[in-house]
Amino acid sequence: MRTLITNIKSLVQVEENKRIAVCGEEMSKLNCIDNAFLIVEDDKIVDFGEMSKLSETNAEKIIDANNRFVLPSFCDSHTHLVYAGSREIEYIDKIKGLSYEEIAKRGGGILNSAKRLQETSEDKLYEDAMQRLEEIKSYGTGAVEIKSGYGLTTEAELKMLRVIKRLKENSPLTIKANFLGAHGVPMEYRGRQSEFVDLVINEMIPRVVEENLADFIDVFCDTGFFTVEETDRMLFAGMQNGLVPKIHANELDYSGGIQVGVKYNALSVDHLECVGDEEIACLKASQTMPTILPGAAFFLNMPYSPARKMIQAGLPVAMASDFNPGSSPSGNMQMILTFACVNYKLTPQEAINATTLNSAYAMGISETHGSIARGKKANFYITKDIPTIEYIPYYYGTNKVERVFLNGKEQ
Ligand code: NIG
Ligand code: FE
Repeated sequence: MRTLITNIKSLVQVEENKRIAVCGEEMSKLNCIDNAFLIVEDDKIVDFGEMSKLSETNAEKIIDANNRFVLPSFCDSHTHLVYAGSREIEYIDKIKGLSYEEIAKRGGGILNSAKRLQETSEDKLYEDAMQRLEEIKSYGTGAVEIKSGYGLTTEAELKMLRVIKRLKENSPLTIKANFLGAHGVPMEYRGRQSEFVDLVINEMIPRVVEENLADFIDVFCDTGFFTVEETDRMLFAGMQNGLVPKIHANELDYSGGIQVGVKYNALSVDHLECVGDEEIACLKASQTMPTILPGAAFFLNMPYSPARKMIQAGLPVAMASDFNPGSSPSGNMQMILTFACVNYKLTPQEAINATTLNSAYAMGISETHGSIARGKKANFYITKDIPTIEYIPYYYGTNKVERVFLNGKEQ
């Protein structure tokens, strides 16, 4: 099936030569073709250019974009969107002054979600997560990484990962699975945390790998959660079993999480509220994508990661939603653009780079996703009638996406 899209006001994030990520100053540039066409063959982008140069005659289907923008779908490289129930009661506790760590200490937070997940059937988890995928699809997301980590027992972790596997098989979104067995320490392991780490290494990882349920391994490496030494042990074991590290780091403290992630060549280190010169130097000497989660910092009212400083140092920066029931109950990547601009002082161009090509890198798919390039997956959206691309983060809180195409098919 060959589809031609005509009269595109501006085709955004176009690449003649594919890059795997965009660093530093380059992030402020977004290559666009005004008054453009786009040609899709089956699930791939095959051509694009200016309308005046269009000579296509073979298209079986023609779609008039009607002077709207076309952008590559967002790649949301960090989510926990398989979960049971919701946690608005803790949200009220937070409003009243309790901290995220205090809530976690008394069995709320991740442990609360784990209890609910253990009691919920695989089918119900699947249906709820599929609905969330449909929702984020309507806001322009075309690829998403989903973590386990609300199981915290071997069986419940496997249940979560099987749900993610079913989502992979049945959703038009591109999905990557991340095994996050070390998301929190279950109550019964309090005081003997290292035994829980042993369980992750000796029982969970082998089972996950045996059933081929994950692409990545994650650890919540931070004060009050897992130490650098424990993270080191788990990442080493995961890597030996073929899992690529991608970790939670430096959210609550200068925890050494970035350094241990880089040591194991993590694809990304995520959160990064606590980043100084040492962490920046470490990232500069690595292939690891620094990934900021603006929704979590906003929702928990945390200090903001020094995105501008990282970009000035020549680093790439990715941004993702962190969609989860505790620290970021939204998967709307258009809101992430707004947060990127308002709270991190990124320009809309930098924010789009951070949520498309760089976040594609952070989930290992930037060869095929994250920009409009020949041979890449035809994952893109047509906007509503908006005046500029800057309008997308500016006019926040409403959906600026009108038509969604994934794998070349209109959704
Ligand atoms: O990325 N920081 C650790 N994990 C999640 C929060 C999970 C939760 O509170 O349920 C996060 O923010
Ligand atoms: Fe997270």
